[in-house]
Amino acid sequence: MQDRDRCLALDADDPLRDFRDEFALPEGVIYLVGNSLGALPRRTPERVNQAVTDEWGVQLVGGWNSAGWYDQPLRVGDRIAPLIGAGPGQVVAGNTTSIAVHQAVSAALRLRPDRRVIVSDVNNFPTDHYMIEGLAAGYEIRDFAEGRFDDAAVVLLSEVDYRTAERHDVAEVTARVQAAGALMVWDVCHSVGALRVDVSAADFAVGCTYKYLNGGPGAPAFLYVNPRHHATAVNTLSGWHGHADPFAFESGYRPAEGIRRFAISTPHVLSFAALEAALDIWDRVPLDRLRAKSVALGELFVELVGDALELASPADPERRGSHVSFRHPDGYPVMRALIDRGVQGDFRAPDILRFGLAPLYTRYTDVYDAATTLLEVLEKELWRDDRYARRLAVT
Ligand SMILES: Cc1ncc(COP(=O)(O)O)c(C=O)c1O
Repeated sequence: MQDRDRCLALDADDPLRDFRDEFALPEGVIYLVGNSLGALPRRTPERVNQAVTDEWGVQLVGGWNSAGWYDQPLRVGDRIAPLIGAGPGQVVAGNTTSIAVHQAVSAALRLRPDRRVIVSDVNNFPTDHYMIEGLAAGYEIRDFAEGRFDDAAVVLLSEVDYRTAERHDVAEVTARVQAAGALMVWDVCHSVGALRVDVSAADFAVGCTYKYLNGGPGAPAFLYVNPRHHATAVNTLSGWHGHADPFAFESGYRPAEGIRRFAISTPHVLSFAALEAALDIWDRVPLDRLRAKSVALGELFVELVGDALELASPADPERRGSHVSFRHPDGYPVMRALIDRGVQGDFRAPDILRFGLAPLYTRYTDVYDAATTLLEVLEKELWRDDRYARRLAVT
């Protein structure tokens, strides 16, 4: 087993180590769920308080102009863009990932009216699949594993699988899909803020900001639209904030130019304030170092757990995102026992134990301590305690 002192030395040498101080993490908890809900940046409460007290409290409705609320979706979109390989004016923030999936897929279907097949991955995060089902009247839904795109209108995939962390090669798949005449939509929820994402060749991309980007619970999502579609793609959720002149209050819909046509409605101003505080950190993150540390943390975890559990993630770190998953038939009580001992991971049905490694605040010693506790829970069968069998509403 790796020695804890070696992990202490790795933490001391870590070029990202100072970022940890920018997050408020509770004492006594090893938090390995940054892939589900990222930790709280220390500056966020002050920024949200300012938005409430100084902006809402003092500027009142004038805040739409004077505090820049109206421009949040595009301003924040431009700040997210470098994290996904996009340029200015190509990303709009707001709403939820599910809504962005709906917008991207329905726009893609209209751009390929002659084709009647939607390709998706049956293992994709369920909401992506559910949103497709909602749009699929008159369409066949085909699994990505069949590998046939020549009659497909659109292909929707996640770059990193939410359960296993398996990673697709975005450039290779995008090129293959587009060569077959289909449009490519990427969901980067589990890769943005964990890898150097590059969706610039794709037609559309969607993602959330509450995981690795630390935007907070319910933080706004985002939608990337390749500029080649800006003039022709239709936003079927044609709300007033995507109108060319919302405050003319015209009775008919006239889409705005550029990415603004994909805005829908009143931005969630307070959530945007929290997200902007998090992006103040992300503006400074060197993505190659982030990825290098994520790989190193993952390798350490896999090595420490060894044969005690079946690895559900790819063994090759290049094919893995930033979480590591293991299988256990009693995964739920095992995770509950672990959480009771201060190691917070999560469980995904039917048998996956998931550990998210957020390189800005996860230390090598955290991985060491988490793996040691996990091994103890397994060896001593501490998970067999009846208290751990009862399912909570959110796993
Ligand atoms: C790949 C993926 N897509 C979408 C979502 C969630 O979508 P929404 O923001 O609409 O809740 C998640 C949430 O974990 C996800 O992992």
